Amino acid sequence: MRLYIATENAGKLREMRAIFGAALPAVQLFCIADLPEVKRTAYKAEETATTYAGNALIKVKALGPLVGADAWVLGEDSGFEVEALRGAPGVYSARYAENDAARCAKILRALEGMPGKERRAQFVACVALLDPGGNPTLFFGRKTGFVAPAAKGGNGFGYDSIFCPELGGPTWGELTGAEKNNDSHRSRALQSVMTYLKSMEVPG
Ligand code: IMP
Repeated sequence: MRLYIATENAGKLREMRAIFGAALPAVQLFCIADLPEVKRTAYKAEETATTYAGNALIKVKALGPLVGADAWVLGEDSGFEVEALRGAPGVYSARYAENDAARCAKILRALEGMPGKERRAQFVACVALLDPGGNPTLFFGRKTGFVAPAAKGGNGFGYDSIFCPELGGPTWGELTGAEKNNDSHRSRALQSVMTYLKSMEVPG
């Protein structure tokens, strides 16, 4: 089975390869960079939807026509939701500030002085899987935890350095990739994808 991943985010791609590779070794994974240049440059997926599902569908529908007729396509949209900020940055997580460090600093500033147990937050992932006939199916994953008092750890990407799954515990930025992938919003959504593919008896 050939599966194309519709992301230009290197952190997400790395995690998806690790999660899939370990569980479904026969799935051949490809990404946008594997396409011939003319198709690579034709891939345009503007995240204009206001929901994770809407954006995940935009990504797979943009890539679907550019891959071979036998290939599946997987697209993921995700975000970080802070309860005290009424769910912000949420679906706008990638655009909340100029870069990862500024985005994390903006959240830490907004929560300054707030006690640990009031700093509840969660990561949410929506995965859209497009079959070779162009039919999409959606899968969701969520991981709850807390915003750390300060950014810690250089592993991962995005908001990993300010997210603690356990109050007072290490941030995702301090964990190895394998430790994070063991139980993350993304791995939860992808576990459902893999169960689905196995139930469809798709080879791999
Ligand atoms: P998008 O799905 O391309 O809109 O990007 C989602 C954004 O949410 C990323 O750019 C990160 O800022 C954030 N995000 C999603 N998943 C994670 C994660 O596993 N760790 C840290 N940040 C994440």
